[in-house]
Amino acid sequence: MKPVDGAAVALVTGAARGIGAATTRRLASAGWRVVAVDIGDAPDAAPYPLATREQLSTVAAEFPGAVVDVVADVRDADALRRAVATAEDEFGRLDAAVACAAVMAGGTPLWETTDAEWSALFDTGVAGVANLARAAVPALLRSPHGRFVALASSAAHHGLWHLAGYNAAKHAVVGLIKGLAADLRGTGVCATAVSPGSTRTDLLAETARLYDLESMEEFASHQLHERLLDPDEVAAVVAFLCSAESSAITGSVVHADGGFQP
Ligand SMILES: NC(=O)c1ccc[n+]([C@@H]2O[C@H](COP(=O)([O-])OP(=O)(O)OC[C@H]3O[C@@H](n4cnc5c(N)ncnc54)[C@H](O)[C@@H]3O)[C@@H](O)[C@H]2O)c1
Repeated sequence: MKPVDGAAVALVTGAARGIGAATTRRLASAGWRVVAVDIGDAPDAAPYPLATREQLSTVAAEFPGAVVDVVADVRDADALRRAVATAEDEFGRLDAAVACAAVMAGGTPLWETTDAEWSALFDTGVAGVANLARAAVPALLRSPHGRFVALASSAAHHGLWHLAGYNAAKHAVVGLIKGLAADLRGTGVCATAVSPGSTRTDLLAETARLYDLESMEEFASHQLHERLLDPDEVAAVVAFLCSAESSAITGSVVHADGGFQP
Protein backbone atom coordinates (compact mmCIF):
# COMPACT_ATOMS: atom_id res chain seq x y z
CA MET A 1 0.00 0.00 0.00
CA LYS A 2 1.42 3.40 -0.96
CA PRO A 3 1.70 6.05 1.77
CA VAL A 4 -1.31 8.31 2.24
CA ASP A 5 -0.54 11.72 0.73
CA GLY A 6 -3.56 13.49 2.20
CA ALA A 7 -5.79 13.38 -0.88
CA ALA A 8 -9.15 11.72 -0.38
CA VAL A 9 -9.85 8.70 -2.59
CA ALA A 10 -13.12 7.63 -4.24
CA LEU A 11 -14.30 4.75 -6.39
CA VAL A 12 -17.10 5.57 -8.84
CA THR A 13 -18.99 2.97 -10.89
CA GLY A 14 -20.67 3.93 -14.15
CA ALA A 15 -17.89 6.48 -14.52
CA ALA A 16 -17.54 6.49 -18.32
CA ARG A 17 -20.46 8.83 -19.02
CA GLY A 18 -23.48 10.61 -17.55
CA ILE A 19 -23.76 11.23 -13.81
CA GLY A 20 -20.85 8.90 -12.98
CA ALA A 21 -18.49 10.74 -15.33
CA ALA A 22 -19.67 14.10 -13.95
CA THR A 23 -19.07 12.84 -10.40
CA THR A 24 -15.58 11.64 -11.34
CA ARG A 25 -14.78 15.04 -12.88
CA ARG A 26 -16.17 16.94 -9.87
CA LEU A 27 -14.21 14.90 -7.36
CA ALA A 28 -10.97 14.93 -9.37
CA SER A 29 -11.29 18.69 -9.94
CA ALA A 30 -11.63 19.10 -6.15
CA GLY A 31 -8.37 17.23 -5.56
CA TRP A 32 -9.67 13.70 -5.01
CA ARG A 33 -8.00 10.63 -6.43
CA VAL A 34 -10.60 8.49 -8.22
CA VAL A 35 -10.81 4.91 -9.42
CA ALA A 36 -13.24 5.20 -12.34
CA VAL A 37 -15.04 1.93 -13.04
CA ASP A 38 -17.17 1.02 -16.04
CA ILE A 39 -18.12 -2.08 -17.98
CA GLY A 40 -15.85 -1.65 -21.01
CA ASP A 41 -17.11 -2.80 -24.38
CA ALA A 42 -20.06 -5.07 -23.55
CA PRO A 43 -22.59 -4.92 -26.40
CA ASP A 44 -24.96 -7.49 -24.87
CA ALA A 45 -25.12 -6.15 -21.30
CA ALA A 46 -28.28 -4.06 -21.88
CA PRO A 47 -30.97 -3.65 -24.55
CA TYR A 48 -29.21 -0.39 -25.68
CA PRO A 49 -25.54 0.60 -25.95
CA LEU A 50 -23.68 1.15 -22.69
CA ALA A 51 -20.50 3.20 -22.46
CA THR A 52 -17.39 2.15 -24.38
CA ARG A 53 -13.91 1.40 -23.12
CA GLU A 54 -12.76 4.50 -24.96
CA GLN A 55 -15.23 6.75 -23.12
CA LEU A 56 -13.87 5.49 -19.79
CA SER A 57 -10.27 6.09 -20.90
CA THR A 58 -11.18 9.58 -22.07
CA VAL A 59 -12.57 10.56 -18.65
CA ALA A 60 -9.45 9.20 -16.90
CA ALA A 61 -7.09 10.91 -19.36
CA GLU A 62 -8.50 14.30 -18.35
CA PHE A 63 -6.85 13.85 -14.92
CA PRO A 64 -3.48 12.13 -15.42
CA GLY A 65 -2.24 10.55 -12.22
CA ALA A 66 -5.42 11.44 -10.32
CA VAL A 67 -7.98 9.18 -12.05
CA VAL A 68 -7.27 5.51 -12.75
CA ASP A 69 -9.71 3.68 -15.03
CA VAL A 70 -10.67 0.09 -14.27
CA VAL A 71 -12.88 -2.07 -16.45
CA ALA A 72 -15.21 -4.04 -14.20
CA ASP A 73 -18.78 -5.28 -14.44
CA VAL A 74 -20.64 -4.40 -11.22
CA ARG A 75 -22.44 -7.74 -11.49
CA ASP A 76 -19.06 -9.36 -10.73
CA ALA A 77 -18.34 -9.02 -6.99
CA ASP A 78 -14.73 -10.18 -7.36
CA ALA A 79 -14.07 -7.58 -10.04
CA LEU A 80 -15.27 -4.86 -7.63
CA ARG A 81 -13.05 -6.26 -4.86
CA ARG A 82 -10.13 -5.93 -7.27
CA ALA A 83 -11.16 -2.35 -8.06
CA VAL A 84 -11.19 -1.51 -4.32
CA ALA A 85 -7.74 -3.10 -4.03
CA THR A 86 -6.60 -0.86 -6.89
CA ALA A 87 -7.74 2.21 -4.93
CA GLU A 88 -5.74 1.13 -1.89
CA ASP A 89 -2.70 0.03 -3.93
CA GLU A 90 -2.57 3.14 -6.13
CA PHE A 91 -3.71 5.80 -3.71
CA GLY A 92 -3.35 4.25 -0.23
CA ARG A 93 -6.96 4.39 0.99
CA LEU A 94 -10.66 4.58 0.11
CA ASP A 95 -12.89 7.33 1.51
CA ALA A 96 -15.96 7.18 -0.73
CA ALA A 97 -17.66 4.61 -2.96
CA VAL A 98 -20.31 5.84 -5.41
CA ALA A 99 -22.68 3.40 -7.12
CA CYS A 100 -23.83 5.07 -10.34
CA ALA A 101 -23.92 2.07 -12.68
CA ALA A 102 -27.44 1.03 -13.63
CA VAL A 103 -29.44 0.31 -16.76
CA MET A 104 -32.90 1.25 -17.98
CA ALA A 105 -35.41 -1.31 -19.21
CA GLY A 106 -39.17 -1.26 -19.56
CA GLY A 107 -41.69 0.47 -21.75
CA THR A 108 -44.39 -2.14 -21.16
CA PRO A 109 -46.76 -3.01 -18.31
CA LEU A 110 -45.15 -5.07 -15.53
CA TRP A 111 -46.83 -8.27 -16.67
CA GLU A 112 -45.11 -8.01 -20.04
CA THR A 113 -41.64 -7.44 -18.57
CA THR A 114 -39.22 -10.06 -19.90
CA ASP A 115 -36.82 -12.12 -17.80
CA ALA A 116 -33.92 -10.40 -19.56
CA GLU A 117 -35.24 -6.92 -18.68
CA TRP A 118 -35.87 -7.91 -15.06
CA SER A 119 -32.37 -9.39 -14.77
CA ALA A 120 -30.74 -6.33 -16.31
CA LEU A 121 -32.52 -4.02 -13.88
CA PHE A 122 -31.83 -6.04 -10.75
CA ASP A 123 -28.46 -7.66 -11.50
CA THR A 124 -26.84 -4.32 -12.35
CA GLY A 125 -29.04 -1.80 -10.52
CA VAL A 126 -29.49 -3.62 -7.21
CA ALA A 127 -27.01 -6.51 -6.89
CA GLY A 128 -24.37 -4.25 -8.45
CA VAL A 129 -24.90 -1.71 -5.65
CA ALA A 130 -24.75 -4.43 -3.01
CA ASN A 131 -21.61 -5.86 -4.62
CA LEU A 132 -19.95 -2.45 -4.37
CA ALA A 133 -20.99 -2.07 -0.71
CA ARG A 134 -19.67 -5.54 0.15
CA ALA A 135 -16.37 -4.79 -1.57
CA ALA A 136 -15.90 -1.21 -0.37
CA VAL A 137 -17.20 -1.02 3.20
CA PRO A 138 -14.22 -2.85 4.79
CA ALA A 139 -11.95 -0.21 3.23
CA LEU A 140 -14.35 2.66 4.08
CA LEU A 141 -14.24 1.57 7.73
CA ARG A 142 -10.50 2.31 7.67
CA SER A 143 -11.18 5.91 6.51
CA PRO A 144 -11.74 8.70 9.06
CA HIS A 145 -14.89 9.70 7.13
CA GLY A 146 -16.07 6.83 4.93
CA ARG A 147 -19.02 7.50 2.64
CA PHE A 148 -21.16 5.14 0.53
CA VAL A 149 -23.45 6.89 -1.97
CA ALA A 150 -25.89 5.13 -4.32
CA LEU A 151 -27.86 6.66 -7.16
CA ALA A 152 -31.55 5.90 -6.66
CA SER A 153 -34.10 7.93 -8.66
CA SER A 154 -37.41 9.73 -8.57
CA ALA A 155 -38.57 6.25 -9.62
CA ALA A 156 -37.69 5.14 -6.08
CA HIS A 157 -40.49 7.34 -4.73
CA HIS A 158 -43.25 7.19 -7.35
CA GLY A 159 -44.84 4.59 -9.57
CA LEU A 160 -43.92 5.58 -13.11
CA TRP A 161 -45.97 4.36 -16.06
CA HIS A 162 -44.50 1.29 -17.80
CA LEU A 163 -41.39 1.34 -15.62
CA ALA A 164 -42.48 -0.96 -12.77
CA GLY A 165 -39.28 -3.04 -12.88
CA TYR A 166 -37.14 0.11 -12.71
CA ASN A 167 -39.43 1.40 -9.92
CA ALA A 168 -38.89 -1.82 -7.97
CA ALA A 169 -35.12 -1.81 -8.50
CA LYS A 170 -34.77 1.81 -7.38
CA HIS A 171 -37.01 1.28 -4.31
CA ALA A 172 -34.67 -1.62 -3.50
CA VAL A 173 -31.64 0.71 -3.68
CA VAL A 174 -33.24 2.95 -1.04
CA GLY A 175 -33.97 -0.06 1.16
CA LEU A 176 -30.40 -1.27 0.74
CA ILE A 177 -29.04 2.14 1.79
CA LYS A 178 -31.29 2.26 4.87
CA GLY A 179 -30.20 -1.22 5.93
CA LEU A 180 -26.54 -0.49 5.22
CA ALA A 181 -26.70 2.70 7.29
CA ALA A 182 -28.19 0.71 10.17
CA ASP A 183 -25.37 -1.82 9.90
CA LEU A 184 -22.85 1.06 9.95
CA ARG A 185 -24.35 2.44 13.18
CA GLY A 186 -21.69 4.03 15.38
CA THR A 187 -18.88 3.58 12.85
CA GLY A 188 -18.86 7.13 11.42
CA VAL A 189 -19.30 5.73 7.91
CA CYS A 190 -22.40 7.21 6.24
CA ALA A 191 -24.62 5.56 3.62
CA THR A 192 -26.90 7.75 1.52
CA ALA A 193 -28.90 7.70 -1.68
CA VAL A 194 -29.37 10.48 -4.22
CA SER A 195 -32.60 10.51 -6.21
CA PRO A 196 -32.16 12.50 -9.41
CA GLY A 197 -35.02 13.72 -11.53
CA SER A 198 -34.76 13.67 -15.32
CA THR A 199 -31.11 14.33 -16.13
CA ARG A 200 -29.65 14.75 -19.62
CA THR A 201 -27.86 11.39 -20.16
CA ASP A 202 -27.97 8.34 -22.42
CA LEU A 203 -30.14 6.54 -19.86
CA LEU A 204 -32.79 9.26 -20.16
CA ALA A 205 -32.52 9.10 -23.95
CA GLU A 206 -33.27 5.38 -23.69
CA THR A 207 -36.27 6.15 -21.44
CA ALA A 208 -37.57 8.59 -24.07
CA ARG A 209 -37.16 5.87 -26.71
CA LEU A 210 -39.15 3.41 -24.56
CA TYR A 211 -41.91 6.02 -24.28
CA ASP A 212 -41.85 6.72 -28.05
CA LEU A 213 -41.04 10.38 -27.38
CA GLU A 214 -39.34 12.45 -30.05
CA SER A 215 -36.89 13.91 -27.52
CA MET A 216 -35.93 13.44 -23.88
CA GLU A 217 -36.60 17.19 -23.49
CA GLU A 218 -40.30 16.25 -23.15
CA PHE A 219 -39.52 15.01 -19.60
CA ALA A 220 -38.71 18.60 -18.54
CA SER A 221 -42.38 19.39 -17.97
CA HIS A 222 -42.41 17.01 -14.96
CA GLN A 223 -39.99 19.19 -13.02
CA LEU A 224 -40.69 22.49 -11.29
CA HIS A 225 -37.51 23.79 -12.93
CA GLU A 226 -39.21 23.14 -16.32
CA ARG A 227 -35.90 21.90 -17.72
CA LEU A 228 -33.79 18.77 -17.54
CA LEU A 229 -31.00 18.61 -15.00
CA ASP A 230 -27.41 18.62 -16.15
CA PRO A 231 -25.37 15.62 -14.90
CA ASP A 232 -23.01 18.02 -13.12
CA GLU A 233 -25.88 19.39 -10.99
CA VAL A 234 -26.52 15.89 -9.66
CA ALA A 235 -22.78 15.26 -9.32
CA ALA A 236 -22.51 18.34 -7.09
CA VAL A 237 -24.89 16.70 -4.62
CA VAL A 238 -23.08 13.35 -4.83
CA ALA A 239 -19.72 15.07 -4.27
CA PHE A 240 -21.06 16.83 -1.19
CA LEU A 241 -22.26 13.50 0.21
CA CYS A 242 -18.78 12.06 -0.42
CA SER A 243 -17.20 14.83 1.63
CA ALA A 244 -16.44 14.89 5.34
CA GLU A 245 -18.88 17.84 5.61
CA SER A 246 -21.88 15.57 4.98
CA SER A 247 -21.48 13.81 8.35
CA ALA A 248 -25.01 14.72 9.54
CA ILE A 249 -26.66 12.65 6.79
CA THR A 250 -26.97 8.87 6.81
CA GLY A 251 -29.65 6.31 6.03
CA SER A 252 -31.64 8.77 3.97
CA VAL A 253 -32.24 10.12 0.49
CA VAL A 254 -31.33 13.49 -0.99
CA HIS A 255 -33.76 14.43 -3.76
CA ALA A 256 -31.75 16.12 -6.51
CA ASP A 257 -34.74 16.24 -8.82
CA GLY A 258 -35.52 19.84 -9.81
CA GLY A 259 -38.90 19.40 -8.07
CA PHE A 260 -39.92 16.25 -9.96
CA GLN A 261 -43.68 15.60 -10.07
CA PRO A 262 -44.96 12.56 -12.01
N1 LIG B 1 -30.48 10.27 -16.15
C1 LIG B 1 -31.56 10.32 -15.37
O1 LIG B 1 -32.53 10.99 -15.69
C2 LIG B 1 -31.57 9.56 -14.08
C3 LIG B 1 -32.63 9.81 -13.21
C4 LIG B 1 -32.67 9.14 -12.01
C5 LIG B 1 -31.68 8.26 -11.67
N2 LIG B 1 -30.65 8.03 -12.53
C6 LIG B 1 -29.62 7.09 -12.10
O2 LIG B 1 -28.35 7.71 -12.16
C7 LIG B 1 -27.35 6.70 -12.37
C8 LIG B 1 -26.47 7.09 -13.54
O3 LIG B 1 -27.25 7.05 -14.73
P1 LIG B 1 -26.99 7.96 -16.00
O4 LIG B 1 -28.24 8.68 -16.27
O5 LIG B 1 -25.72 8.69 -15.84
O6 LIG B 1 -26.87 6.80 -17.11
P2 LIG B 1 -25.77 6.44 -18.20
O7 LIG B 1 -26.33 5.34 -19.01
O8 LIG B 1 -25.29 7.66 -18.88
O9 LIG B 1 -24.56 5.90 -17.29
C9 LIG B 1 -24.61 4.64 -16.67
C10 LIG B 1 -23.20 4.07 -16.72
O10 LIG B 1 -23.21 2.79 -16.07
C11 LIG B 1 -22.44 1.88 -16.85
N3 LIG B 1 -22.86 0.51 -16.57
C12 LIG B 1 -24.03 -0.06 -16.90
N4 LIG B 1 -24.04 -1.35 -16.52
C13 LIG B 1 -22.84 -1.59 -15.94
C14 LIG B 1 -22.25 -2.73 -15.34
N5 LIG B 1 -22.91 -3.91 -15.28
N6 LIG B 1 -21.01 -2.63 -14.84
C15 LIG B 1 -20.33 -1.45 -14.90
N7 LIG B 1 -20.83 -0.34 -15.45
C16 LIG B 1 -22.09 -0.40 -15.97
C17 LIG B 1 -22.71 2.31 -18.29
O11 LIG B 1 -21.74 1.82 -19.19
C18 LIG B 1 -22.71 3.82 -18.16
O12 LIG B 1 -21.41 4.36 -18.31
C19 LIG B 1 -28.11 5.39 -12.58
O13 LIG B 1 -28.15 4.69 -11.35
C20 LIG B 1 -29.50 5.86 -12.97
O14 LIG B 1 -30.48 4.89 -12.69
C21 LIG B 1 -30.57 8.67 -13.73
